[in-house]
Amino acid sequence: SPLHDLLVNLPKCEHHVHLEGTLSPSLLFSLAAKNNIVLRDPSSPAPATTSPNGGEEGEAFTSPAHLAARYANFSSLDDFLAYYYVGFSVLRDADDFEALTYEYLVRAAQDNVRHAEVFFDPQGHLPRGVSVEVVMEGFGRAVRRAEAEGLGISVLLIPCLLRHLPVEHSAQVFDSLVRDGHFASGALSGLGLCSTEIDRPPELYRAIFERAKEHGTAHAGEEGPPAYIASALSELSVSRIDHGVRAAQSAELLALLAAQKILLTVCPLSNLALRGVQRVADVPIRAFIDAGVRFSINSDDPAYFGGYILDNYCAVQEAFGLSVGEWEGIARAAVEGSWCVEGRKGEIL
Ligand code: HPA
Ligand code: ZN
Repeated sequence: SPLHDLLVNLPKCEHHVHLEGTLSPSLLFSLAAKNNIVLRDPSSPAPATTSPNGGEEGEAFTSPAHLAARYANFSSLDDFLAYYYVGFSVLRDADDFEALTYEYLVRAAQDNVRHAEVFFDPQGHLPRGVSVEVVMEGFGRAVRRAEAEGLGISVLLIPCLLRHLPVEHSAQVFDSLVRDGHFASGALSGLGLCSTEIDRPPELYRAIFERAKEHGTAHAGEEGPPAYIASALSELSVSRIDHGVRAAQSAELLALLAAQKILLTVCPLSNLALRGVQRVADVPIRAFIDAGVRFSINSDDPAYFGGYILDNYCAVQEAFGLSVGEWEGIARAAVEGSWCVEGRKGEIL
């Protein structure tokens, strides 16, 4: 497209990427080998004759291509999440998190990402005995290495609470992050909310977000109704909404998002892969622009959804044919909606 060079060169901020969602099939396989882990398909039981557990375990994945083929066929958020959590099983030590983070930063720099706010799921690692300190150590090493190599990306790390687990578990983990001083030290920034959405309304997390002194954000309106977006704003006082695409079903909500200058962190290829939309053209980009709702364009779980951030920009351009001015507006909103210090924003634009 005629704007391709502009899209490549736009200085990008990524606000919606899950660290664990950047685990490429090739790295996943190499870490599985290193850590002696057999990867099993969570949704396909092995034939009883070949499984020592009488068919209760899934068929083993045999290659990165075998995994990638399955990734091309998700049916819903929860279907994807089952594979996403299998990926967690290969992440064991700080070296693993360093490799994961470094691979993402190098890939993001290729797309001219200048600032990345990266989610991770502490509760998804604790059951294997992997502490947040291990994640933070590996992440920090990768960021320092990227810095030393002049990649030019500033980075924040944001813990997300997992909605498929009991609220009490989220409360305990959040407490421990506060108690151990990770927010006060600046090692962690803000608080997010993700995983299964249906039947897990934001108000369940009100007491936790009330105690979060930092910025808050919540996945809402991905599969859930517009009411969940409204509730994340009123009950959790978040300043951003992750996805938020279902806001387009309510003119009143669009007006509220515009008035409160809430940033929606939209992920078009994610919505396509998880069947929230049938085509990228069904992501309500034009409705957001017309209503004056701010949004950024992001990759979510790029290793699973077939595209990194530039691929998402290009898919939007192919579907909507936006103008140069509209793209500059999107890039500006992304910088302004970032949680980096003001001085850094000036450097990016
Ligand atoms: N939605 C909810 N939870 C998630 C996602 C998502 O798109 N990606 C990783 N965790
Ligand atoms: Zn997400």
